[in-house]
Amino acid sequence: MAAQTQTQIQVQTNCNEPEYLDDLLCSGEELEQKQESCLVSPVRCLTGESRVESAWAHWAKLGRPKFIVAPMVDNSELPFRMLCRKYGAQAAYTPMLHSRIFTETEKYRKEEFTTCKEDRPLFVQFCANDPDILLEAARKVERYCDYVDINLGCPQRIARRGNYGAFLMDKLPLVKHLVEKLALNLQVPVSCKIRIFPNLEDTIRYARMLEEAGCSLLAVHGRTRDEKDGKKFRADWKAIRAVKNAVKIPVLANGNIRHMEDVHDCLEETGVEGVLSAETLLENPALFAGFRTPEWVAESEVGIIDGRLDQADLLVEYLKLCENYPVPWRMIRSHVHKLLGDWFSLHPYIREDLNKQSRLTFEFLYELVDRLRDTGTRIPLYLNDTQTGVAANSSTS
Ligand SMILES: Cc1cc2nc3c(=O)[nH]c(=O)nc-3n(C[C@H](O)[C@H](O)[C@H](O)COP(=O)(O)O)c2cc1C
Repeated sequence: MAAQTQTQIQVQTNCNEPEYLDDLLCSGEELEQKQESCLVSPVRCLTGESRVESAWAHWAKLGRPKFIVAPMVDNSELPFRMLCRKYGAQAAYTPMLHSRIFTETEKYRKEEFTTCKEDRPLFVQFCANDPDILLEAARKVERYCDYVDINLGCPQRIARRGNYGAFLMDKLPLVKHLVEKLALNLQVPVSCKIRIFPNLEDTIRYARMLEEAGCSLLAVHGRTRDEKDGKKFRADWKAIRAVKNAVKIPVLANGNIRHMEDVHDCLEETGVEGVLSAETLLENPALFAGFRTPEWVAESEVGIIDGRLDQADLLVEYLKLCENYPVPWRMIRSHVHKLLGDWFSLHPYIREDLNKQSRLTFEFLYELVDRLRDTGTRIPLYLNDTQTGVAANSSTS
């Protein structure tokens, strides 16, 4: 496998300049990233079994990651991915990137896609409805990632209007074309993230079609396009298991992951290679190191101990990462709300002060954490005492 030196990604902005708007990047540093690429052999000449073998070889080369940060618009950006990796995540998706805007706008590319040498394995996710545009976008990132992923699961109105995400479930020939285009022309494998159909047979046909078209890894969110509210609808692990049994490529499960017990149950019940978590990680980026929020600790549970880590600690770690890896302030703002939501419920006036700031600074945010601590508030994250080893490893890595 030939090692290749990468082109540089540069990010230049300055959050201390007052004229900058809140959604510009948060630091003035120029980020230079040089990394060895880890390109695999193109799958273009492979068919059938050898393509499946190649999919598994790639997965094995990445270390068979089991604990994975799901794609999240404005939320699975570089510093957040790095925080989750420190606490046990073994791979991560970028937020969904819009393939057409990515090809057309340099500012969008620089602000919305940043990475670094340690940010691997990495899935870069695009939404698309034009195979040529998707390929053009994918070519710009393939050296920096381990999969180019197609978003086939977004159920939001914006996806309906834009004709992408889960609305492509009505246009399967186009989906096939998108996957084939990447599989035949990229150096890295293509993965897809899907939702299930209401009918299991349709879901299985869909998964097999994707595999046939050249998809090397399939992440299955076990909810239908209409089951938008993750809190209201349980993900269907049985459907995920059926997909796993119907295809030969690696499969990941998504949905219903609140703590490590769910992770283990999901792996066992579905038989998949790994799990994705989204909403829970936003509140608790240390999930994969065994930490859980008080919400998921039953009073009667034995062996649960104070993990000596809390969401304010994690926010401070996140902010430090943001100082190193600049991202738009709107992403930082979103993480502050998600991480400190329970703390703000106890002290709503501190949340109001945050909301009043049209422009944020790191100084303001560190002070905000100090103010919360000065109230005497402490909401610990808990560990199952059999998992303390995992946590210790993650916090020293
Ligand atoms: C804030 C947020 C942003 C999301 N953005 C994306 C996205 O960009 N691409 C995608 O495929 N799914 C996206 N999702 C969906 C998640 O990846 C995941 O499929 C869904 O939340 C179910 O997982 P969970 O039960 O662990 O939350 C997003 C979810 C959240 C909460």
